[in-house]
Amino acid sequence: MTRYTADSRDRVRDAVDMLTLISPRAELRRAGANSYFGLCPFHDERTASFHVLPDDKRYHCFGCQASGDAFSFVMETEGLDFVAALEVLADRFGVKLDTEDEDPAAAARRQRRERLYELLGRATTYYARYLWEASEAARARTYLIGRGLAEETLREFRVGYAPSAWDRILLASRRAGFTDEELLAVGLAQRSQSRPGSIFDRFRERIMFPLADSRGRVLGFGARAMRENQRPKYLNTSENDLYHKGSQLFGIDLARGPASRAGRALLVEGYTDVLALHQAGLRNAVGIMGTALTEEQLRELERVARVLELCLDADGAGQEAMLRAARLASGRSLELRVVALSEGADPAELVQREGVDALRKLVEGSVPFVVFQVQRILDHADTGSAEGRDRAFVELQPVLAEVPPSSLRDELVQRVAGRLELPERRLESLLAGSRTTAASSSVVGGGEPVTPSPLDQGARAERTFLVLCVALPDAGRAVLAAIDPDQHLSSEPLRRAARHLLDHIDSPLAGLPEDDELAHVISDLLARAGRYPDATKDRLEHAELVLELARLDRAIRRARVEAGAAGEAGAAGETGAAGETGARGESGAESTALAREREGVLKAVRAVVARLEESV
Ligand code: CTP
Ligand code: MN
Repeated sequence: MTRYTADSRDRVRDAVDMLTLISPRAELRRAGANSYFGLCPFHDERTASFHVLPDDKRYHCFGCQASGDAFSFVMETEGLDFVAALEVLADRFGVKLDTEDEDPAAAARRQRRERLYELLGRATTYYARYLWEASEAARARTYLIGRGLAEETLREFRVGYAPSAWDRILLASRRAGFTDEELLAVGLAQRSQSRPGSIFDRFRERIMFPLADSRGRVLGFGARAMRENQRPKYLNTSENDLYHKGSQLFGIDLARGPASRAGRALLVEGYTDVLALHQAGLRNAVGIMGTALTEEQLRELERVARVLELCLDADGAGQEAMLRAARLASGRSLELRVVALSEGADPAELVQREGVDALRKLVEGSVPFVVFQVQRILDHADTGSAEGRDRAFVELQPVLAEVPPSSLRDELVQRVAGRLELPERRLESLLAGSRTTAASSSVVGGGEPVTPSPLDQGARAERTFLVLCVALPDAGRAVLAAIDPDQHLSSEPLRRAARHLLDHIDSPLAGLPEDDELAHVISDLLARAGRYPDATKDRLEHAELVLELARLDRAIRRARVEAGAAGEAGAAGETGAAGETGARGESGAESTALAREREGVLKAVRAVVARLEESV
């Protein structure tokens, strides 16, 4: 990391002219000797409450309280960190920055990096000139223009063309004083297999998309095939010290400012999408380069804008990418919105086919991520059958649990209730019933349930049993028929649930009586069953045996208590020594039988446990 001296910073501050800096963003009028004012560039307003004090080199808005100096102005309007803002201002106002004395190793590393940046910058310029000047690039030009991209846009993004010869970059770079080692280090050249010791250009006969960092320094390339049968379609710079594909965002250097000022960034998949959108005036578009949005990309975007509009292809991969994005974004202060593209169309094609306004309208109609998610589940659900509606409920429940009370939530509940053929009030109470389970594994959430349920261990075992019955309906029906809810289950709501499940195991939400408590229990069981990772018959058998054990323990305890009570009664009475021994003998025999039975169950438990252990 480069460290500039405090003196450099002061010299930049002195050199900045605040009016020159701010005027392009706000029309300023004179208010006093050292004061200008105008409409605030940081918020929407009609009356001018934004003030600039050129001598103090500060600005302040009485409307939104934005205030600061030249550095904060650039950081905020351009989405840059401090060092980058310092560099931009130094460049703009002609100040030479001095770096702190570095240790020699750090200085050497920095100098090397700067040389590598320069090498990549030269290659970028070379490829870009080649695209416009070489006759062998004519086909590429025709192709790009044919995709609706204007020369101006292509030049702005420094799109280029790599010659078909094997050594153009190699020779040009060597002439400029770069070593083969440097060419290999930035991925512009690769070693020859057939001629050990010699190297050749990595990119040939390809359209070159330069991948720049947020300051516009090119770090690598995405290179699209131009010839028939040329594989792969995209050849990328391989990972190296400077370039990591996963942290790159195509177009971030150009999109950063607009995205930062708008507070939103538009995320698309492809290079041509980014170009087409910028050309269409949507200057806040950046490319995630495929569908795998990464943590690093998100971290970079977070610095630039709070709202991310996902404008990804409507195919399976695009939808997967949106779910991934939501998982990555959870816990960050980012708002995700989804732009609904129709299947099979990418944004570039859409602009070309239907025009800019069609796309602009789609972007304006973006919906909160949760709406997209609910819609997606409903679209895939088989709401024609009770089973299908139950499955949809199980999927929807954790999604809806994430939405705080709001008119948006009301609207979603209304929509879902309609599709699941449930009265809204009933849906609400089902959702409330599963609230304790909801937080544990919804797509956007994570972590443990917020409210630990107050069940004791025995009741938890009973619930696990019922959950497994729901998860394995066929086996579940059989074991539910085999147990006696009054004997095996200890709480009244769970008994009612067991009886209900016996008749409705395939679609537990169907035919629920007007019983809110039962509805809570059932929806909780459904939610848990829906995400039971490895429900198996062995587990169900185990759960049933645990219930059986508990039942026997209760019966044994009861038998002992009865025997004790009979003994006391006998001792207290004057007569009936025979009765005394009789009662004791009876419950004693009963306890023995129960104990034997218990032994048998224990053995069965051990057998199942052994099977379960084997299977992991
Ligand atoms: N991509 C990549 N490397 C690959 C494949 C794809 O970096 N091997 C990225 C590129 O940024 C590409 C995006 O994923 O632009 C989308 O891929 P795809 O839809 O295949 O390409 P398009 O850009 O749509 O290409 P075109 O329309 O020109 O065929
Ligand atoms: Mn595409």
